[in-house]
Amino acid sequence: MNLKFLSLNIGVMLLSVEAGAQQRFVDVDALIARMSLEEKIGQMTQIDLGVIARGSICNLEKPQNLDSQKLTTAISMYHIGSVLNVGCGSGAMSLERWRSIVRQIHRENQRLSRLNIPIIYGIDAIHGANYTLGSTLFPQQIGLAATWDTALVRKVFAASAYETRAAGTPWNFSPVLDLARQPLWSRFFETFGADVHLSSSMATAAIKGLQGDNPASPYHVAACMKHFLGYGFPLSGKDRTPAWIPDRELRAYFAPPFQAAIKQGAMSVMINSGAINGIPVHANADIMSGLLRREMGFEGVAISDWEDIQKLLNVHHVAADLKDAVRMSIEAGLDMSMTPNDFAFCDLLAELVREGRISERRLDSSVRRILIMKARLGLFDTTIFGDEIYPDFGSEKHKNLSFEAAAASLTLLKNNADVLPLKNKERVFVCGPAAHSMHLLNGAWSRTWQGNDTSFHHDNRKTIAASLRNYLGPERVLDDAACADRKSLLRMAAKSDKIVVCLAEDPGTEIPGNIDDLNLPRAQQELVTALSKLGKPIILVCCFGRPRIIHETAKQAEGILYAYLPGDEGGRAIAACITGRINPSGRLPFTYPRTANEFVNYDHTASEEIHTDFSNTAYRPEFDFGAGLSYTRFRCDTMVVSQEALGDGDSVEVRVQISNTGNKSGTETVQLYYRDPVASITPAVKKLIAFRKISLEPQTRGTLRFVLYKEDFALVNRNLKKIAEPGIITLQVDRFKHDINIH
Ligand code: BGC
Repeated sequence: MNLKFLSLNIGVMLLSVEAGAQQRFVDVDALIARMSLEEKIGQMTQIDLGVIARGSICNLEKPQNLDSQKLTTAISMYHIGSVLNVGCGSGAMSLERWRSIVRQIHRENQRLSRLNIPIIYGIDAIHGANYTLGSTLFPQQIGLAATWDTALVRKVFAASAYETRAAGTPWNFSPVLDLARQPLWSRFFETFGADVHLSSSMATAAIKGLQGDNPASPYHVAACMKHFLGYGFPLSGKDRTPAWIPDRELRAYFAPPFQAAIKQGAMSVMINSGAINGIPVHANADIMSGLLRREMGFEGVAISDWEDIQKLLNVHHVAADLKDAVRMSIEAGLDMSMTPNDFAFCDLLAELVREGRISERRLDSSVRRILIMKARLGLFDTTIFGDEIYPDFGSEKHKNLSFEAAAASLTLLKNNADVLPLKNKERVFVCGPAAHSMHLLNGAWSRTWQGNDTSFHHDNRKTIAASLRNYLGPERVLDDAACADRKSLLRMAAKSDKIVVCLAEDPGTEIPGNIDDLNLPRAQQELVTALSKLGKPIILVCCFGRPRIIHETAKQAEGILYAYLPGDEGGRAIAACITGRINPSGRLPFTYPRTANEFVNYDHTASEEIHTDFSNTAYRPEFDFGAGLSYTRFRCDTMVVSQEALGDGDSVEVRVQISNTGNKSGTETVQLYYRDPVASITPAVKKLIAFRKISLEPQTRGTLRFVLYKEDFALVNRNLKKIAEPGIITLQVDRFKHDINIH
């Protein structure tokens, strides 16, 4: 595309060294000065592919095709700035189809639009380029968090960006930075777990991976952190239902992962579709402008969630009509509306400006942010790169990375009498819903929104049962595939030495993913109970997006391997772990509740420990945050802390020595916590402050070094200020504790 506007005024200039990623100077303000009101509003509008595709909304031609008439209307009449996704009710497209559709959109835009401002295509590439056939599907975010490996997570997001941009889509609605502190929530699996520090570290890694050093490169995309703010903590546990979160807790728990992403340069943010403290976030200037921009310093693009301006009217009932809803959202600070199924937003916003109710200057600030994002992505120069530069799309290399991530996520929660790994010659019976299924390993956002359309599966990806057979040979693996009823299943199971039950949740996200009961579905409980009567050791493999309650079922098992939603290579990784080819090293990124009514996080306050007999024993999760076993044994030998006091500008060094005392090589995650015994805000009994992984050969030891600063111990005080209060805090690693004096 020819760049029409070159000048030396304020603008965006990024020079890149990567092939095909040169960028010229885009004088954004000069461009805005030439734009009509309608063109500005068009930039603020994002429509779904369904609006410009053949067929009717939510009932498109399959596979999707552009409708040239509709495309002409969208560009010539509405000057649209952005398109998203695959069309409601539709699924993944081939890479070739993607590229052809995206090319056609750009060509028509170039032909029809007066100013040649590139259209930006946005997509939900949630665990890989999940809407492109043949792409690599990685573990869902909750599994990535369980790796506690930021370098690995960065690589996964970089590969995901690569495959996303290969399709001509330079904007990814990822990562999800909501905290998973409400286990019922249907999008628990899309998060980096429940902990502020772990999620913030993962957020940084994700943004680095997605955007790289230069988002204009052919291999990176603009990230969109979502959903700002507090979306993941609905009181009822149901998606998009009210959250009540005081200002202090918003800043202490929910804001930090976003703050970390902003620090890393996240280019866009999506707004929470729900309401906090009675106010829908899409109409809340205190959050969208006050907190996000003024307090947290975000300068990128704020996009609405799906149809969320309409929702102010027909879901939240805070607007009398759509025009008022548009006004509220724009006044609150929204830059772009994911409208996404019609152009009512454009017409109504134009009316509001003509009536003088919203100023054109207000629109300019949003348009400026949008154009800067497009310029930083290099879209004024190259809207889509040649397909020959994407040899790694769906490659062995990315498949291996997906395997590596799935393997690193596997979290061994129970291993009585070393039931795992399987011993030589042992025969195993494998059953349960996830044993033969790929979609139960992938969850939602897999080829379709809900991920439950099995017709999209690759033939070459292996289920848990197939992978076990692959590793052990057919004679050592029995399964339930041919068992017509429970009786024949038990007969078959009786022929084995050990039984692997692959438990699962139905794929689902957002409102369709809501559940009423966190307990493991009854049929799966009954399956394990029936098998337990055989007296053979049972191993549970939990392919869950959220911690389904397994308290009674767990008692019937000798081994529990928690697999999260491990993606397309999950079957292979699980089988590799069960057979001892890999040594599990994942650690829980959330606190696993024991019962469906007892949600207490590890970073609770002392009051949450008071039991009915008034002893401090009420905190008794099924499995603690950070838990995870290994096939070898680790021992924490020493913790040495460099000084007793910590003031402004000082740092304290903590050295931790770890030994592998077992007989297998393995990886340990050292978790450094602290406790503030007295604070102006009731302190948590324990908070994660740092972590690192270390791989050790048998009978060897290693030392990890952590450097901490005073501000690492900051809390958000009553005046909403982040400060490290003076006084003693206790550092804690494993069984070691050490006090330091903050002054
Ligand atoms: C979801 C977002 C997603 C958007 C676009 C919404 O319903 O909440 O996470 O990015 O749809 O698909």
